[in-house]
Amino acid sequence: MRLSKAFIGISWRPVASYFFLMVLFLGILKLYAVEKISVVGAAAIAFLFAFILAWVLFKRVISPLNEIARAAEDMARGNLNRELKIYSQDEIGNLARNINDMAGKLKGNIAEISRERNRANAILNSMVDGVIAVDKSGSLILINPVVEELLQTTQQSVQGQKILEIIRSHELEEIFTIASNTRKSVTREVKLPILEPGIFKVQATPLEGTGQEEGGVVIILRDITERKKLEQMRTDFVANVSHELRTPLTSIHGFLETLLDGAMDDKETTKYFLALMSGETRRLTKLTNDLMDLSKMEELTSIQWQQVSVPTIIERVITIFRTPAEEKKLVLFDDIIGDLPLVKSDPDLLAQVLMNIVDNSIKFTPEGGTVTLQAVAGEKYVRINVVDTGLGIPTESLSRIFERFYRVDKSRARELGGMGLGLAIVKHVVKALHGQIEVNSREGRGSTFSLYFPVYDS
Ligand SMILES: Nc1ncnc2c1ncn2[C@@H]1O[C@H](COP(=O)(O)OP(=O)(O)O)[C@@H](O)[C@H]1O
Ligand SMILES: [Mg+2]
Repeated sequence: MRLSKAFIGISWRPVASYFFLMVLFLGILKLYAVEKISVVGAAAIAFLFAFILAWVLFKRVISPLNEIARAAEDMARGNLNRELKIYSQDEIGNLARNINDMAGKLKGNIAEISRERNRANAILNSMVDGVIAVDKSGSLILINPVVEELLQTTQQSVQGQKILEIIRSHELEEIFTIASNTRKSVTREVKLPILEPGIFKVQATPLEGTGQEEGGVVIILRDITERKKLEQMRTDFVANVSHELRTPLTSIHGFLETLLDGAMDDKETTKYFLALMSGETRRLTKLTNDLMDLSKMEELTSIQWQQVSVPTIIERVITIFRTPAEEKKLVLFDDIIGDLPLVKSDPDLLAQVLMNIVDNSIKFTPEGGTVTLQAVAGEKYVRINVVDTGLGIPTESLSRIFERFYRVDKSRARELGGMGLGLAIVKHVVKALHGQIEVNSREGRGSTFSLYFPVYDS
C-alpha cells in the first residue's frame, strides 16, 4: 500500500489516536507535575479529549459500519433496491460502493434469470403437446397446462408424486424406464387411461443437466386420438365399399358362370338370370351414385341460396313418391300447419334431403302404414317432420344411423336396396344448409325425423 493511500484510509486513525493520547497524557502529566492544574482539571481535560476522539471515531467509523450492516441484512432479505449513501474516500466508502455494485449486479442477474424463466414458461404454456418432467426416481418435477387439463389437476398437487400414481399406465412407465436407463430417446404410441382415455404419441427424452434433473426424463404427450379415429374411419370406409361392391359382383359372376355352363340354352332361364343381373347392376349403379353424392356433399361449396317455400318442396317430394307409396299400399300425405315463412335454403338440396328421408320411411314401413310430411313454423326456423308408422329404430342405433354404411339390420336393409349412405348424405347437406336434424323413434311404433331450417330474413 502506498503511503498516500494509507493516509486516505482509516487504518492510520487508531494509531494516530494512540500517539495523540500519549502526547496529551504526557502534557497533562507535565502540567500536573508543575502544579499548573489540579487533579480535577487534568481529569476534565483528559475526559474532553477522549470524548472528542470517541465522537470522531463513532461518526467516521462505527456509524457507517452500522449502516452497512443494516443494509446488508436488508439485502439478505431480498431488498436489493436499497442503496448505501456513503461517499467517503476511505475503506468504508469503498466497502459501501462495492456493496452497491454487488447489489446492482445481483439485481441484473435475478432479472435475467426471471426473464429466462418467463420465456421457458411461456413456451411450456403455449405448447399444444403435454410435457411431463420426471426425475431419476420417477417423481414428477413439472407438468405443463396441457397435462394439468388432461389429468384435471395442478402442478402443485402432483409435484413429487410418482408418475405411475398419476397415470396408471405400465407402458408409460416402461418408456420412462428405458429412456432413463439407456439415456436415449424413446417414442411409442400408447393408449393412456386418463379422464378421457385416448391414444397418445409418447416421446421420452433423457434430461441433460445437474441437480434434480440429473438422470431425469422429459416426456412429451401428443394426442393422436382424432388422427387414429380418422385413419380407422378411412380403413373402414374402404373395407365397406369393397364389401358392397363385391357382393353384387360375385352374384353377377355366379350368374354368368351358370349361363356359360349351359343354362344359356334355355331361353326362360337366360331371361331369369339376366333379370337378376340387371337388379345387381342397378344396385352397383346406386352404390356408385351414392358414393359420388357423399363425396360431393362432404365438401359442399356451391349452394344456391334462395327464398324457398317449404310447402312447394313438400309437394314436389310427394309427387315423386306417390307411385312407390301406392305400390306398397301406404298413405302418403302432407300436413302443413298455418302460413309458413320462406326459408333460406337451396331448393334442390332441400328436396334431396327430404327424398332420402321419405325413401327410408317408405322402405321401412310395412303395408297399410302412413307417411306424413308435416311443416310447422318456429320463431326463427321452419320445422319439417317426416313421420312414419313403420318398424322404428332401436334406441341403441339412434346415434349411429347417420354414420356411413350403418344399417340397423344389414340383411333387411340390403334386401330393400339400402347401402346405409342415405342418412350420411342427409347429415352433410343439412349441416351445409345451416339446418339441424333430430330423430325420435320407438321400435315397432314408427319414426319421426325432424328437420329445422332457418327462416329467410332479408
Ligand atoms: N324411417 C325409418 N324407419 C326405420 N329404420 C330407419 C328409418 N330410416 C332409417 N332407418 C335405419 O337407418 C339405416 C340407415 O339409413 P340410410 O342411411 O338411409 O341407409 P339405407 O337407406 O341405405 O339403408 C337404415 O338401414 C335403417 O336401418
Ligand atoms: Mg336410405
